[in-house]
Amino acid sequence: MTGPSAGAAHAEALMVMNDNRPGGFAIPENVFAETVTAVRHYTDRLFSFRITRPASFRFRSGEFVMIGLPNAEKPVYRAYSIASPAWDEEIEFFSIKVPGGPLTEHLQKIGIGDTVLMRKKPTGTLVLDALIPGRRLYLLSTGTGVAPFASLIRDLETYEKFEQIVLVQTCRDVAELTYIREMAASLSGDPLIGELADQLRLYTTTTREPSPHMGRITDLMTSGQFFEDTGLPPIDPGVDRAMICGSTEMLRDTKAMLESFGLVEGANNAPATFVVERAFVG
Ligand code: A2P
Repeated sequence: MTGPSAGAAHAEALMVMNDNRPGGFAIPENVFAETVTAVRHYTDRLFSFRITRPASFRFRSGEFVMIGLPNAEKPVYRAYSIASPAWDEEIEFFSIKVPGGPLTEHLQKIGIGDTVLMRKKPTGTLVLDALIPGRRLYLLSTGTGVAPFASLIRDLETYEKFEQIVLVQTCRDVAELTYIREMAASLSGDPLIGELADQLRLYTTTTREPSPHMGRITDLMTSGQFFEDTGLPPIDPGVDRAMICGSTEMLRDTKAMLESFGLVEGANNAPATFVVERAFVG
């Protein structure tokens, strides 16, 4: 559903790359060169940005791609979950700024009109097809791990497959929750989602700054506090499904917690009751 304008912008980006950049590096066959259309900084650690979407690029909501910058002959690529839904005309990402990070120290300085490289093949396990049918979908994240869920909560199919979606994000500070809080709040005004937004519950927690719900989501669920706060029943493998995205330690601890509730990890080729994204480190 990418419109002609995005296609035109894509062609223009390639021209800029090839003609104007001193000592321009060739764009490999398996890479798209796209143009930045928006950037927003939330804190000194988090920002989001949008790029044009190539007409031929298809993905499933929840998948990730490898992205880089055209600043070296062999650019550094990192796995980034696509935060926009599969139907969107642009591609959105939500990124951390790692001090001295080989990609993010440069990526955090991008502005509108700059070029971002994106490998052509999306992949990932946080897709609806990797879960067997259920009634309630838990989307459990920390930090920028919320990105694939920002995609899924803007996809109609998520609401068609599940009666209720419970999106959880744990961050250090309140300001880090802004990205998903604003998005969830605006969903009811989204022409595609509209009233379906009533099916979504957002539960945010902080660990290093006071907020209504404090503590790691793993601790809050294990202690039962989360269920007390939300009025939701304990996790039931008969009806509840889950996806997890966060740091390596968060994935390990949340997976163990879900298994203690009786859920079983699945994959694209073997759907089950929860899935984990293993592409990210830190
Ligand atoms: P904490 O402040 O207790 O470390 P980060 O910004 O470092 O990626 O962390 C994002 C959020 O994830 C923080 O609130 C952090 O809590 C929390 N977190 C870190 N490790 C885990 C874990 N193993 N399980 C659940 N939450 C975690």
